[in-house]
Amino acid sequence: MTDPAPYYRIHVFCCVNQRPEGHPRGSCAAQGAQGLRNFLAARCRELGIEGIRVNNAGCLDRCELGPVMVIYPEGVWYAYSTSEDIEEILQTHVIGGGRVDRLLLQPEQKTRDGVVGSPGA
Ligand code: FES
Repeated sequence: MTDPAPYYRIHVFCCVNQRPEGHPRGSCAAQGAQGLRNFLAARCRELGIEGIRVNNAGCLDRCELGPVMVIYPEGVWYAYSTSEDIEEILQTHVIGGGRVDRLLLQPEQKTRDGVVGSPGA
């Protein structure tokens, strides 16, 4: 038996987990994740993108890199910091089918080094 077709054409999970202030791993919410996730969802509605779902996610266990999102079915991860980052992911990846290299996270990546626009960069 083959797998059923995906329910959503594009499924985005944005971590919005909040940890107590001072937690050693930090949290995506402390870096503005909820507002950025809401911006992404609103832009998808504005642009009328069909077949996309943008979900709040709990901790995705890449907290030190946050805020982070993962886009399926590709399973591509991004770290982002601003609404401009979100817009670029939307235009380039979601709409254009490309990749935003400067924000991409590699599977083995443990720090934000190399991610343009990272906090403190
Ligand atoms: S708090 Fe966002 S990945 Fe853990």
